[in-house]
Amino acid sequence: MKPMKKQKTLYGFVAFTAVLFILHTLVKNYMIDPEAWGFLSRKTGLQRELNVPIWLKVMYVHVAFACIAMAAGLLNFSNRLFEKSRRFHRVNGYIYFVSVLVVIVTSGYMAPYATGGKISSIGFNVLNTIWLIITIAALVHIKMKRIDRHRNWMIRSYVFCYTNMLIHLVTFLFHQGFGLAYAAGYTIGLYSSIVLLLIIAEIIIKKADGVGRINRFEYIPKTYAPMLR
Ligand code: HEM
Repeated sequence: MKPMKKQKTLYGFVAFTAVLFILHTLVKNYMIDPEAWGFLSRKTGLQRELNVPIWLKVMYVHVAFACIAMAAGLLNFSNRLFEKSRRFHRVNGYIYFVSVLVVIVTSGYMAPYATGGKISSIGFNVLNTIWLIITIAALVHIKMKRIDRHRNWMIRSYVFCYTNMLIHLVTFLFHQGFGLAYAAGYTIGLYSSIVLLLIIAEIIIKKADGVGRINRFEYIPKTYAPMLR
């Protein structure tokens, strides 16, 4: 397959999974199980008392902004949209940035009550810190007009929008597949997601690097070319 076609296929795959996951997340958390009964009933041995109404409100905000971040990030990786409107890319980029901040802040509230206890809480706080640093790095690079690096750091940042999906996939594998307790599976899911997502980002960046100067999800937009010399 030609490199340009490969990039488009990857973008198509990312778009497909993102749209499906956003729809699934919205339907599940706001319509099917708005009390998060399925999730909360699996919490055992909490160190501090969980105020369910407040936790739920925070979770609603968390989910809404997580979905906005996922959608905004996806749109900003589209070169077609970038070529159409730089202004859209910039405004949408700030929407992504603010959404990530809201997801991190709400995650900070929920982390102490995380399924799996203290180890999971630490994992979420590590994740919060990594995601914040990576996303700020992406912003700083574009402020300094380093387009190449901005895109690389945005790829590293965007993969974390897949955290929840991957945690649940790995938890399912360990819980249903290997018969591990749900909470233990969840903790393994959390830590392996952090590692896997960082590796996946590097693979995407490296593979695309072999394609040409600018790489990543799609081909080089014509508008980038003069800025790269
Ligand atoms: C962007 C995609 C994300 C979506 C759609 C999402 C969605 C959710 C949902 C629905 C929950 C409720 C429990 C569940 O069903 O899993 C949750 C919990 C949580 N999320 Fe996220 N999330 C995302 C990303 C993140 C990220 C990147 C972090 C950390 C930086 C994070 C931190 C947390 C924490 C700490 C909890 C509570 C976990 C627990 O109580 O065990 N989430 N998230």
